[in-house]
Amino acid sequence: MKILHIDCSIRNEYSISRKLSKLMVEQLQNFHEITSVDYLDLSTDSPNHITECFIEGVYTVPEERTAEMLKELEQSDEYIHRLHDADIYVIGMPMYNFSIPSNFKAFIDLITRTGRTFRGTEHGFEGLLVNKKVYVINTRGVDFSNEIIASFDHLQPYLKSIFRFIGLTDVHFVNVFPVKWGNKEKLESAIYKAEQEIAEAAHNLLLLQI
Ligand SMILES: Cc1cc2nc3c(=O)[nH]c(=O)nc-3n(C[C@H](O)[C@H](O)[C@H](O)COP(=O)(O)O)c2cc1C
Repeated sequence: MKILHIDCSIRNEYSISRKLSKLMVEQLQNFHEITSVDYLDLSTDSPNHITECFIEGVYTVPEERTAEMLKELEQSDEYIHRLHDADIYVIGMPMYNFSIPSNFKAFIDLITRTGRTFRGTEHGFEGLLVNKKVYVINTRGVDFSNEIIASFDHLQPYLKSIFRFIGLTDVHFVNVFPVKWGNKEKLESAIYKAEQEIAEAAHNLLLLQI
């Protein structure tokens, strides 16, 4: 089985989402035969913003695409190839302003493509990234066990919808909070809990496949 490992935190050395997404990959490797890990860092290997030419290229049949359109589609083609090629996606995902980091939104705009990751049928839309397992390690600064704060979460509902649209229905969120605006004890406890959940999730994937 192949893993596509994606990080998008703007932080490096001190990033908790990076540390935990790496642990998720390692735990999957411990419990399962992983043949390859493809790594994508959206913070350093930044996705382009889509353009008018990009959209024209998407809706032009391949034989009639101009050199400019093909250039605009290049990064999207590469990302989509990597998504189809992998069986498991592990995504380190910090919350920014109650939603996803902008680099991940740019990535979504590039990969949500008709005929490639979804298509229209007479019964409605159909996602084309099928039989994939997704782990999202979602770190948040604030304590989301507070009901009012919880209603500010536009990250998880959005990701569930857009992932479902492109065929990704088996999504496991590991929510890690509070990692910033809390005390040291709460931070350590959030990380410890996440580490346990990650080990269990990796183990359970193995059980499901026996
Ligand atoms: C630009 C920015 C915006 C943030 N917005 C939120 C937010 O809306 N809610 C929240 O709980 N934490 C917020 N945080 C805190 C981060 O979610 C938290 O520090 C992050 O998940 C840690 O991930 P990392 O260690 O991998 O960088 C924000 C952090 C930054 C840098």
